[in-house]
Amino acid sequence: MKVKVLGVPSDFGANRRGVDMGPSAIRYAGLIDKLKELKIKVEDISDINIPITRSDISKCQKLKCLDEIVVSCEALSNTVSEVVSDGYFPIVLGGDHSIAIGSVAGVSRVKESIGLIWIDAHGDFNTQKTSNSGNIHGMPLSAIVGKGVDELVNCGGFSPKVKEENTVLVGVRDLDEGEKRLLKESKLTIFTMDDIDRKGMYQIMKEAIRISSKDVEGVHLSFDIDVLDPLEAPGVGTPVKGGISYREAHLALEMLSENEILTSLDLVEVNPILDQYNKTAELAVELILSALGKRIL
Ligand code: ARG
Ligand code: MN
Ligand code: MN
Ligand code: MN
Repeated sequence: MKVKVLGVPSDFGANRRGVDMGPSAIRYAGLIDKLKELKIKVEDISDINIPITRSDISKCQKLKCLDEIVVSCEALSNTVSEVVSDGYFPIVLGGDHSIAIGSVAGVSRVKESIGLIWIDAHGDFNTQKTSNSGNIHGMPLSAIVGKGVDELVNCGGFSPKVKEENTVLVGVRDLDEGEKRLLKESKLTIFTMDDIDRKGMYQIMKEAIRISSKDVEGVHLSFDIDVLDPLEAPGVGTPVKGGISYREAHLALEMLSENEILTSLDLVEVNPILDQYNKTAELAVELILSALGKRIL
């Protein structure tokens, strides 16, 4: 496997600042060297160029920093599609979760069709109509399957990026009312924390793998680190208690690697300003290694 790592230092989609420093913190935690220790061919192609100024968010309540996010996601989509065309596995480091619109667009543009596993405490399935916050990191998943404003939905020049039938949400425990309604009307498969409690992560991931990988060329993993319990991952902007454990997270990612379905991934929402001595970035590194094949024995 050949890997290219790229960062997206954006916090435009989030309420709390600081998540733009996520890529630095994850690199500082040793991602590149540790991937090399796994005998993976890896190249760090640095960060995407994105706007450095942020518009006054009080002026655009419904879709905060939409212009900045569109510019960033188009740039990311272009880079990711080049990386994928050249035969590399892209590891995209966020940044807030709005960047997934760009990374999924970039992969989906090149591949005939892809599945999507979205591991997150949140649904990120709001649109401008259902969002209470106006923060676009609460909207990327709906945009990816074709719902919401044109600027986001048409990133990369096409829509949808992924079929709802191949999209699986894992670990959710915090949904807004309108978002809940949209999810129920959709064809997404949704595994909540309650499902994980009852069936166990092993069973849930077996189903997630089967559904996401049915009749597609590859599967993209979008991993929001806030899916973990805040005790494990304190460095996040929107913590929700009752999250998945350290062991469950590793199991999920080890299963994805074992089944060899992943062709790209993003790891988002690490916020070093809110973290404790880079603990959350270090966790992110460990989890990426599990997804890329690291085993105990
Ligand atoms: N549902 C909330 C909102 O729309 C929170 C979204 C959090 N998303 C995230 N990627 N952390 O604002
Ligand atoms: Mn989240
Ligand atoms: Mn998210
Ligand atoms: Mn294990």
